[in-house]
Amino acid sequence: MTPSDYEYLRKLLKERSGLDLSADKQYLVESRLMPLARKAGLGGIPELAQKMRGGATALTSEVVEAMTTNETFFFRDKIPFDHLKETVLPALIKARAARRSIRIWCAASSTGQEPYSIAMCLKEMGAALSGWRTEIVATEVQRGLPIQLLVKYFTQQGELWQLNADIRAMVQHKQLNLLQDFSHLGAFDVIFCRNVLIYFDQDTKAHIFERIAKILEADGVLALGAAESVVGISDAFKPYPDRRGLYRPNPARGHAGGVAAMPLRVAASAR
Ligand SMILES: C[S@@+](CC[C@H](N)C(=O)[O-])C[C@H]1O[C@@H](n2cnc3c(N)ncnc32)[C@H](O)[C@@H]1O
Repeated sequence: MTPSDYEYLRKLLKERSGLDLSADKQYLVESRLMPLARKAGLGGIPELAQKMRGGATALTSEVVEAMTTNETFFFRDKIPFDHLKETVLPALIKARAARRSIRIWCAASSTGQEPYSIAMCLKEMGAALSGWRTEIVATEVQRGLPIQLLVKYFTQQGELWQLNADIRAMVQHKQLNLLQDFSHLGAFDVIFCRNVLIYFDQDTKAHIFERIAKILEADGVLALGAAESVVGISDAFKPYPDRRGLYRPNPARGHAGGVAAMPLRVAASAR
């Protein structure tokens, strides 16, 4: 691969998914894209880049998909889900007693294990949430993949286990790129945005934090991945006391987010 091919691919990946590859990641590009080039009947990465430059949009989507890390699993890191059950949900159950509804956004939900883990945490609250309206919106950048893969992944086949229909029904899947506007999703009480910002540069992270702050309730909670933090990047959030990985809107910023700040139409349709 020539330096100009690498620069072209780096720039394209940055624009399309936010992925911030450093100058020394040619090996990663080679190892992830060579199988794709072969499958397309091409000699190597230079030929692949040439096709993409010529406007091969389906191929470009496949390249973005191949370069994105999708690793996820049920109850990943355990602690955020313990915090959710033991701290965040009990607090919201008190704070939302009049409204009896909770909205949770799982941004970058990959193949669904994270939002389904959240759904199970809600179920674990038992009678405390019975009769409540709970909504989990799971968004993911990859077009097409989640639904097909999820249907395949969650159907019982031989010794494999299928997730219960009531848990599945709790999660709405949508396509969404975090680089683009997401204010139309409405206001949330809890936002899981885990193990995705790590791939973005500082400016992109800061910008996403600002926009997340606008749709998180003043007493809402943001959960980040174990290797992620707002510290040194944004003052829109403050670490949640004694709960690693959790953050609250910074009161000193004069919170402008949440339902109060949503246009009425959006807030209403989100409920
Ligand atoms: C490593 S997985 C993390 C999945 C899950 N949040 C977890 O922690 O288990 C990162 C996910 O971020 C998604 N992603 C990457 N860039 C994105 C973007 N610009 N907008 C939305 N999702 C993106 C990828 O498709 C991938 O599914």
